[in-house]
Amino acid sequence: MQRRDLIKQTALTLAAFTLSRDLFAAEAEQTIPLPDVIKTIKLSSNENPHGPSAASRKAMIDAVMSSNRYPWDVTTKLREEIGALTGHTKEHIVIGAGSSELLGLTAVWAALQKGNAVAPDPTFRLWMPAARKTGLEIKLVPLTEKKETDLQRMKEAMNAQTRMVYICNPGNPTGTIIPAAELEAFIKEVAPKAIILLDEAYTEFSNEPSMAHLVNDYPNLVIAKTFSKIYGMAGARVGYVLAHPATVKQLNELQPWANAGASAVSLAGALAAIKDKAFIDYCKKENAAAKTIFYNTLDKLNIPYIQSHTSFVYFNTTGFGKDFKAILEAKNIVGARTFEEGTKWLRLSIGTQDEMKKVAAALLG
Ligand SMILES: Cc1ncc(COP(=O)(O)O)c(C=O)c1O
Repeated sequence: MQRRDLIKQTALTLAAFTLSRDLFAAEAEQTIPLPDVIKTIKLSSNENPHGPSAASRKAMIDAVMSSNRYPWDVTTKLREEIGALTGHTKEHIVIGAGSSELLGLTAVWAALQKGNAVAPDPTFRLWMPAARKTGLEIKLVPLTEKKETDLQRMKEAMNAQTRMVYICNPGNPTGTIIPAAELEAFIKEVAPKAIILLDEAYTEFSNEPSMAHLVNDYPNLVIAKTFSKIYGMAGARVGYVLAHPATVKQLNELQPWANAGASAVSLAGALAAIKDKAFIDYCKKENAAAKTIFYNTLDKLNIPYIQSHTSFVYFNTTGFGKDFKAILEAKNIVGARTFEEGTKWLRLSIGTQDEMKKVAAALLG
């Protein structure tokens, strides 16, 4: 390819990425395939740069051969394995094609009763359009000054028509975490009044426990988990919900075919992934090391940031004086993006250590 063509191709690709970013702002994320000529570092969607694990990849390849059959035995085994991990039975688990399917399903379940849902702002919003469309008004509650979920104000925003409260813990896009005792007290108080949809997509990156042990006590507690993050399987599309068996039944009834959304190949990958503790530990450690590289870079640039309990970092470029996004994009590093219009707070996903060294080099010159 001629140099001129390569430059043209690069410009087109970056334009395509900008387009994809804008589409996400409209609450739908698009991934546009890249031509091989450009080695882009993609730090936009909190994907795990290390996954899927070797065991998971092998299981998926093997499963291709049996994908002429419905995968019920694997679905059941996966639900049993998840149960073994979280101290539950398969009756506590709903499988979906990614946790976003199940976030949407839970929101629609809540919307069947009409009324409102309370959620922090900013937060992970993918479930909101379907919820609005099916009858829920969404009340957004700003974060605290420290960018933490404001549980007190969320409780105050609730009224007799509140059907659901959404909490993302650790939070996206901020990376903050609600301490377990505080969250448990909130669940205890709120669960008798409304569904609590607790999104634990990033819990495994933190040192705080899941709230899984509470689902038997609170039928209104729905915990959404995913294989997209620590397990490194975002493209495989497997997620699950942990809830009281009575709640699981309600959610299953809203699925066109209960627990049948994920493919045989993806389920086989998830089953191998859930048993691969060494890979989880590796990803958590690598994420922490790569995050430290980025923290050090931000420190050198005097850019304030929030200590993250996740695989991304939220930082404030107000005093930076240069275009943070443009500097990275000039080096084919894409993904720094805004979640609060009118501010210069940005979120960047954490890649490999090598990728974060490239981020550092681009920014520090
Ligand atoms: C907080 C949160 N929940 C859910 C999801 C969706 O995950 P899945 O790939 O399982 O649909 C994401 C993806 O970025 C997320 O950040």
